[in-house]
Amino acid sequence: MPGKPKVFVTRIIPEAGLQLVREACEAEIWNEPLPPPATVIAEKIPSCDGLVSLLTDRIDGPLLEKASRLKVVSNFAVGFNNIDVNACTERGICVGNTPGVLTDATADMAFCLLIAAARRVVEGHQYTVSGRWKTWEPLGHLGQDLAGRTLGVIGMGRIGSALARRCQRGWDMKVLYHDVYANEKAEQDLGARKVDLETILAESDFLSLHADLNDSTRGIISAQALAKMKKSAVLINTARGPLVDQKALAEALKTGTIFAAGLDVTDPEPPAMDDALLKLPNVVIAPHIASATIDTRNNMALICARNLIAGITGQPLPAWVNPEVRNKRR
Ligand code: DGY
Repeated sequence: MPGKPKVFVTRIIPEAGLQLVREACEAEIWNEPLPPPATVIAEKIPSCDGLVSLLTDRIDGPLLEKASRLKVVSNFAVGFNNIDVNACTERGICVGNTPGVLTDATADMAFCLLIAAARRVVEGHQYTVSGRWKTWEPLGHLGQDLAGRTLGVIGMGRIGSALARRCQRGWDMKVLYHDVYANEKAEQDLGARKVDLETILAESDFLSLHADLNDSTRGIISAQALAKMKKSAVLINTARGPLVDQKALAEALKTGTIFAAGLDVTDPEPPAMDDALLKLPNVVIAPHIASATIDTRNNMALICARNLIAGITGQPLPAWVNPEVRNKRR
């Protein structure tokens, strides 16, 4: 009788998902706090039927060359820029991700960074704990108003729309978006207007990034783009660090080209300790935690496990990045 399929899980994910994985598979779980080095994944992959990967694991053609029996890569994330999906499809390997369940948590975090950066909350905290707060200051710590301002969203998918809904319904903001696709629902429900990049840069008071990282979006917020933004603008990034030219952003924040930034993602992650961004008062940086709520991570783990098991057992994946592999899957 054949044994259970073998899988490698590159980090401890919530037990809700691990339990399903263990029931269906012979699972080896990397239990170190840091990700497995690429050499370790390369060593494990030849004997694996399935892989649970994280956004910190690079799954590319050379690695897949060694993956002779791999049927599925199940990413514990909605983003999958760490995976060469075409290389998987060519080899008949399914790829899964975790969309939907992290939409609200991520939109909440984008809004949290927006208001924290606009109202200088972290700077104020530092001021307080360092003993510099002496009195109420009529001209101190002045930030930006939110109500009635313009939100720009680059990438009007699930998360971008959820942020737009919060800002439009709660703060009466006007919504602009830039995307290759039209989002008719956001246009109808929120009065969102699709505009070109120049317009969104020039007109947004708050510009929030929600695009996939790919060749056309990498570095979309360049020095030139920052120069076109309002001096009072706040940039928010909860998507992927390389969407922004980080050196150019540090310069723009230092010179007052834009007012502030709120980042949940950087390039690289974590940023180097001598990165100019870390020395600036007008940036708030969180350690890539937008999906980090208990329920969201549990739900991500469940989808991730279900994708893995479906990939191994020849079923359609509940969240399938490359359904075009269907007729030639292993
Ligand atoms: C994702 O899912 O892509 C986030 O970056 C982490 O939850």
